[in-house]
Amino acid sequence: MAGTAAGDGETLERELDEMLEIERFDPPEEFRRQALLSDPAIYEQAAADPQGWWAGQAEALHWFEPWETVLDDSDPPFYKWFTGGKLNASYNCLDRHVEAGIGDRVAYHWRGEEGERRDVTYADLHRDVQRFANALKDLGVRQGDVVGIYLPMIPEVVVAMLACARIGAPHNVVFGGFSAESVKERMEFSEAKVLITVDGARRKGKTAPIKASVDEVMGDLDSLKTVVVVRHAGLDGVPMSDGRDVWYDEVCAAADPVCPAEPLDAEHPLFILYTSGSTASPKGILHTTGGYLTGVSTTHRHVFDLKPESDVYWCAADVGWITGHSYIVYGPLANGATSVMWEGAPDYPHRGIWWEVAQETRATILYAAPTAIRTFMKWGHEIPEGYDLSALRLLGSVGEPINPKAWLWYHKVIGGGRCPIVDTWWQTETGAIMITPLPGITSTKPGSATRPFPGVFAEVVSEADGTPVESGQGLLVLTQPWPSMLRTLYKEHDRFVETYFARFGKETYLVGDAARADRDGYFWIIGRIDDVVNVSGHRLSTAEVESAIVAHEKVAEAAVIGQSDDDTGQAIAAFVTLNGEIEGTDELVAEIGAVVAERIGKFARPKRIIWADDLPKTRSGKIMRRLLRDIAEGRALGDVTTLRDPSVMAALESQIQDAE
Ligand code: WTA
Repeated sequence: MAGTAAGDGETLERELDEMLEIERFDPPEEFRRQALLSDPAIYEQAAADPQGWWAGQAEALHWFEPWETVLDDSDPPFYKWFTGGKLNASYNCLDRHVEAGIGDRVAYHWRGEEGERRDVTYADLHRDVQRFANALKDLGVRQGDVVGIYLPMIPEVVVAMLACARIGAPHNVVFGGFSAESVKERMEFSEAKVLITVDGARRKGKTAPIKASVDEVMGDLDSLKTVVVVRHAGLDGVPMSDGRDVWYDEVCAAADPVCPAEPLDAEHPLFILYTSGSTASPKGILHTTGGYLTGVSTTHRHVFDLKPESDVYWCAADVGWITGHSYIVYGPLANGATSVMWEGAPDYPHRGIWWEVAQETRATILYAAPTAIRTFMKWGHEIPEGYDLSALRLLGSVGEPINPKAWLWYHKVIGGGRCPIVDTWWQTETGAIMITPLPGITSTKPGSATRPFPGVFAEVVSEADGTPVESGQGLLVLTQPWPSMLRTLYKEHDRFVETYFARFGKETYLVGDAARADRDGYFWIIGRIDDVVNVSGHRLSTAEVESAIVAHEKVAEAAVIGQSDDDTGQAIAAFVTLNGEIEGTDELVAEIGAVVAERIGKFARPKRIIWADDLPKTRSGKIMRRLLRDIAEGRALGDVTTLRDPSVMAALESQIQDAE
């Protein structure tokens, strides 16, 4: 079956269904033979001496001064790593590669929406970062000052981040899909002195006037002294305020070309990244330099089996999320990798664009989110099959649980049956991948992120008292500190302790996910504990029910919510998107119920199924269950501004009305 074309839709369906019976996929022999890590003894070695293991990994970085202590755990949960050591992230990502003579290696094959190609080398970045770092200094930015970055997927976003890192100014990147209001909020919280943004951002053939939108909200921020504007979309008449706004190209041209990297303490803040918590106000996750860089470079090398001389690695996330920070910028650059950077959406100018870019760049590694994979499934296997993806040798998944069917589709249709899949579990807070297969060692089971990375210690514990759950469901915790862990929540130390270290004590990190460990010690992430549904006292994760529903061959995607119910407390309502042109029928409702009953239990069967042409998703691809709850319970809709496509809600409302 490996490597064959998937054939017609029905044959593929049948093949995937047959594969659902396969419990484990061993690393292909050919892959194992060439893998960087192929000896399972690595797990025991790291477990026997975690500090020694991490110190060994940190030695692969360049240090201006060696550390004195690997781990300072004298004041948990405020851990420090590699104390006394001095290094610079920008030096590690650029200078040492240029000094080693690989400056002409491509760091990014950047591909623009309208077919533009820019191949940016390590030497190019080294030159641009030095100039921009000096420009920031000329603008008054000093070590420790926070710099905001609100840029689309263009090489300048990397230059901006590394320029900050070079002079020790922590960056605060805001994902380009967030509104200007959110940017303002984040600049305000972090008291950013400078904001780096763009004239306009292109999306699917349209241009959003970013600078003008920023101006509308940013006016009255005292802390913000300067706005640096990158020319990208070629917009005319961009508003520029005298005394505050400057053009990126002009300040760079005026700056000195040489800017030595500042030797910084290992614990010097590298960046703040705001992420959502269980309350409305976002949490400013703070990462520092030495431990973070050790974590991301080590995991990037070993999880992706990286051969920097020959691999073309594509992480299809946005730089504005942690996945982009760690696995588009710092991990790959620290390892001297060649990456693909795609400016746009997966369906512009056409639905095969990812595969066109992968074919053209001869991408060997692809790292993407399950939501993207499910979308491609929905569009049909014929699209990727029209391209030559034979260079691919490894596939990755991140961000949410991947249901077995999507895993198998990814494996077969995109990976040609020959590529191992690394399902990587981690969070903004963990900085780097925590639970993952090692592709040359670990047998995979579709839907399981498998085992903790060497040097990482995870457990599933009982909700009641925190004792380990041998087999079955519980709360996921990390029981020992790791180098790339968040150090605190920016300016909210109490909230940091309260959120992550109050429940089971100061030495046990509460992840916020429910998980299950199986008899082989494999971890199955069930989902956020905040999305738990309680039906007649049975606790269920929306993700688990969704996974069951999408196992039905006619289902493309499903979102499950707990709807309040007089009889059972909560009842399950499922919004279901069907494949292609298939119509929702009563028969199908019964069939879906049966699949759920079979996979989980009768109590988990949806009480209500709502056919949906599309589901409301945030710009990062997460389904917004809050809105589905509103709609299912007939409430007025809450805030829809963070949706990728707000019109989805109107369509859903009319679908519900039609059904009733
Ligand atoms: C979820 C993204 C299952 C999880 C890197 C976690 C996953 C949250 C996986 C963090 C995975 C991430 N399998 N669930 N492989 N990866 N998650 O901070 O619920 O955006 O807590 O970091 O995503 O999301 P964040």
